[in-house]
Amino acid sequence: MKTIRNAGYIYFDNSATSKIKPPKVFTSVMEGLLEYSANPGRSGHDLSIKTALKIYEVREQLKVFFGIDKAENVIFTSNCTEALNYAILGSAKKNGHIIITSNEHNSVYRPVNYLKERCGVEFSIVNTNQDGIISAIDVEKHIRSSTYLVICNHISNVNGDIADVGEIGKLCKSHNILFLVDGAQSAGHVDINLKNQNIDMLAVAGHKGLMGPQGIGALIINDGVNLSPIKFGGTGTNSIEENMPNSFPEMLEAGTIATPAILGLGAGVVYVGRHMDTIKRKVKETAEYAYKKLSEIKDIIIYTKYNNAKNGVIAFNKVGIDSTMIADLLNEHKICVRAGLHCAPLKHKELGTIETGVVRLSFSHFNTKEEVDKLIRVLSTI
Ligand code: ALA
Repeated sequence: MKTIRNAGYIYFDNSATSKIKPPKVFTSVMEGLLEYSANPGRSGHDLSIKTALKIYEVREQLKVFFGIDKAENVIFTSNCTEALNYAILGSAKKNGHIIITSNEHNSVYRPVNYLKERCGVEFSIVNTNQDGIISAIDVEKHIRSSTYLVICNHISNVNGDIADVGEIGKLCKSHNILFLVDGAQSAGHVDINLKNQNIDMLAVAGHKGLMGPQGIGALIINDGVNLSPIKFGGTGTNSIEENMPNSFPEMLEAGTIATPAILGLGAGVVYVGRHMDTIKRKVKETAEYAYKKLSEIKDIIIYTKYNNAKNGVIAFNKVGIDSTMIADLLNEHKICVRAGLHCAPLKHKELGTIETGVVRLSFSHFNTKEEVDKLIRVLSTI
């Protein structure tokens, strides 16, 4: 796999944004600017149509990658947060009940809180079990007659805890409850298939495991799901209509979409699709290696279960030292990690780290054991 590397830096912050991308991502973004700069779906001229067809190709790529039937059910958004907002606010039911998990990021927690304050929606929070898993059994305990939506973070961006999405999907289907998965930290190195896993909606970030640029995300919608728009504007179709169209993707894509970023995302998804087995193996090997080495350092507390290290995120602290101070010290050695609360206060409350935060290592398949060795050498001297 040829790629462009980070001169001099060791980058363990791939949960924030993957830094090293496949070269085809760069050339596709450039191609978007050079060859496909007309506005897709707005005009009838050749260049607009050519761009719209190219965009459609990327919808097809995501459709196949995530296992849905219709390319038009791939909605391009500006990031995963926006995709989650579309799903959560667009499916809102006054006075209804939502189930979320302790792994949720603020991109779920805040819109759900908003619904609680504005629409009388109630929500319950499912905690991870002793194995670091959100289980269907635990989700089931919270189901009420008014539950209309289960929102489940797939892989925690704080410590790599995982949700048993397949079983939760079956549970939601049997109760006729909508199932929304936040795939921000899983898409690209964990298998996701909406049809097989009974997922109604999946929100993904383009710039993390899917190897695309920043500024692009997607909401992938399975058959039979209805949403209301939460953003209004031009769609290039039926301009005389006062209301948004009621079909995907136009209903949720008001305004001009980000062609160069979309083409970059398409290149990333094709790359990930071709290399998925290698990506999974390398992330697992490097993260498990880091876990073992970390656990040999005196005074290190690890907040990730060993079995979850393969998910590519490890959280730790060193006794008596603030997490942000560790991150700053590592930065002096050109090692990039993220410390603090990671926009996920529920998870830190569960871990008991709301005061201290944690240091987070998040891996890409481009990371190496030699990079881990350097990290361990530096941490051992702190
Ligand atoms: N949610 C991203 C992270 O975990 C930005 O760092």
